[in-house]
Amino acid sequence: MAARHFLTLNDMNTTELESLVDHATRLRNEWRQGKVRDSLKNRVLAMIFEKSSTRTRVSFEAGMAQLGGSALFLSPRDTQLGRGEPIEDSAIVISSMVDAVMIRTFAHDTVERFAAASRVPVINALTDDFHPCQLLADMQTYREHRGSIRGATVAWIGDGNNMCHSYVNAASQFNFHLNVACPEGYEPDAALLEAHGDRVTVFRDPAEAARNANLLVTDVWASMGQEEEQKIRERAFRNYQINPDLMKVADKDALFMHCLPAHRGEEISVDMMEHPGSVVWEEAENRLHAQKALLEFLILNRLD
Ligand code: CP
Ligand code: NVA
Repeated sequence: MAARHFLTLNDMNTTELESLVDHATRLRNEWRQGKVRDSLKNRVLAMIFEKSSTRTRVSFEAGMAQLGGSALFLSPRDTQLGRGEPIEDSAIVISSMVDAVMIRTFAHDTVERFAAASRVPVINALTDDFHPCQLLADMQTYREHRGSIRGATVAWIGDGNNMCHSYVNAASQFNFHLNVACPEGYEPDAALLEAHGDRVTVFRDPAEAARNANLLVTDVWASMGQEEEQKIRERAFRNYQINPDLMKVADKDALFMHCLPAHRGEEISVDMMEHPGSVVWEEAENRLHAQKALLEFLILNRLD
């Protein structure tokens, strides 16, 4: 049987995604009670990082250890990936020795090529185009605080980037409406918007997008690989900040999320992380639980 991959949220159906999020909460509760779980005993995850990471690396590595397995950190600098070995050759070799592979790259195409040549499940741990693992944690966090997100309104304020693209996919999969507020020229991918047109509305004015929203989300103005555009982007996005005033136009019980790392004073005000609606720290912790659920689903093919 061909390996099951997780390159975007569309690699699962709604039932699977909802079961996975529920299982993540179960794993979190068990873990907080100190229960030992060794479902991935002797299993190995290879982790390939072309870009920096704190949350993704720690959550995958700690998650494997907590389930009885182990993880290998592989950077292109220290492997033959950085010296031009073809991605397909690397995929054949690495996947012949481990049980799953997690990969963070610039081009999304790199993850797709790796997965096409891999005999074991491949997980997208962020590309320039998508960040599906973060959405598992975000959906888990929303559900834990507010119940089902079905029918809710989510406001994305800022860049139409990889995180925004995964929110577009999530809107269809988890059945909510997404309002995107972004400056001209920074919209999400046109083909993706076209495919999810009934679920997404693009605004210029952040207040219009945030009106009555149940969840406000943002991300950095310049993503990894766009460092040279920082100054241009600071100008383009200066009116696109989540702050307590913007929270006031949202629903009174609205939550605030950010995948982190955050830039206080840019996409969020300096006081936003401490706002009563902010769930950013739980959102970050849930990366651990959501990905443990994902690893069990992909490696063991079950969620119990
Ligand atoms: N949110 C997120 O993916 O964080 P890292 O870049 O630290 O992994
Ligand atoms: N959009 C950000 C997300 C970081 C987790 C980036 O790609 O750098």
